[in-house]
Amino acid sequence: MPIELRINGTTHAVDVPPTATLLSVLRDDLGLTGTRYGCGIGRCGACFVIAGGRAIASCTLTAEQASRMEITTVEGLAQGGALTPVQDAFVAEDAMQCGYCTSGMVISATALLERTPHPTEDQIRESLATNLCRCGVYGRAIRAVQRAAG
Ligand code: FES
Ligand code: FES
Repeated sequence: MPIELRINGTTHAVDVPPTATLLSVLRDDLGLTGTRYGCGIGRCGACFVIAGGRAIASCTLTAEQASRMEITTVEGLAQGGALTPVQDAFVAEDAMQCGYCTSGMVISATALLERTPHPTEDQIRESLATNLCRCGVYGRAIRAVQRAAG
């Protein structure tokens, strides 16, 4: 089915099966591979994108459902080669090891700080609660969000 997606401020016309997920279209059709496949069932955060000011799982959303939304992926954050404060803070705090979960964490942190510029530690923990990290960088990720908020 032909649909149009608004991704990072650009309209993309794609022809996809009705069951295609936003995640598969981002990665396989649009080459936006910063959004990762993890669990495929909305539980790990690797595939998070921002829509409506919230971090949402692109693996449980069909591309057709997403066609009614303005979507931001991790590729849409840095502008003109300049990292965002959240991205800078993740680098400064070394809040990554293998990096597989990092784009999803950065998306969750960005959505949080857009809603709540000065979150409490509990709010940060809550916002990252669905971002699973097999390398265990949770402490550094929390400090990165605090640094970005500061
Ligand atoms: S791959 Fe989407 S939440 Fe895990
Ligand atoms: S840094 Fe490896 S999964 Fe999080």
